Amino acid sequence: MKYLSAILSVLLLACVLTACTSGGNAEIIQNTPEETPSQEESADAANENTPNDGGKILVAYFSATGNTKAVAEKAADAAGADIFEIVPAVPYTDDDLDYGNDNSRTTQEQNDDSARPEISGTVENMEQYDTILLGYPIWWGQAPKIMYTFMESYDFSGKTIIPFCTSGSSPIGSSDENMQGLAEGADWLEGIRFPGGASDDEVKEWVDSLGLSSQE
Ligand SMILES: Cc1cc2nc3c(=O)[nH]c(=O)nc-3n(C[C@H](O)[C@H](O)[C@H](O)COP(=O)(O)O)c2cc1C
Repeated sequence: MKYLSAILSVLLLACVLTACTSGGNAEIIQNTPEETPSQEESADAANENTPNDGGKILVAYFSATGNTKAVAEKAADAAGADIFEIVPAVPYTDDDLDYGNDNSRTTQEQNDDSARPEISGTVENMEQYDTILLGYPIWWGQAPKIMYTFMESYDFSGKTIIPFCTSGSSPIGSSDENMQGLAEGADWLEGIRFPGGASDDEVKEWVDSLGLSSQE
């Protein structure tokens, strides 16, 4: 009888030990997800490896009818740059763009030294950029006043600014010089004028000539 109860005791102990071991395994499985990086941590790690991390070139442009936009997109592609469209808070209508009308919005703005058309949206972390390719159409030989708004909205000191424009026929002329006073401490390089339908090769040739790849 004593022998039988000893065997039963051993069996009981074995059962208890098995139960404990199973519980241990369950705990380990429950811990595993906690050791997996959170979604936020994974996203941070991915951002650290994106090509834009430490990216230093921004193409910032305004375009009322799409010509400068097309050039800006080609330039951003060629330079591997980020791109920002300067969007007017109040869009320009066809009537606004009527340069034959002395009372049109654009005529009035260009004749008003203090005009600063409002911009919708902002460049995030402007401080990360070393070089700004600045694009705009020529309006009466000058940059549209919304470009002045843009220049007054950020601190460009220590940055290199390289202007480009599109026009019917006018050269870049004094349009860039007249904005230089709005970006104190910036280094302005010589700008370039493109025709409305500038080709990929034309824009790429210009971007390549700037030697920007060494700054990426
Ligand atoms: C209000 C206004 C004024 C313009 N003034 C000039 C000008 O002085 N010289 C010129 O060659 N083209 C002039 N243009 C033509 C634009 O510079 C040209 O079409 C430009 O490529 C437009 O660029 P966007 O499509 O990016 O707005 C003018 C256009 C507008 C709407």
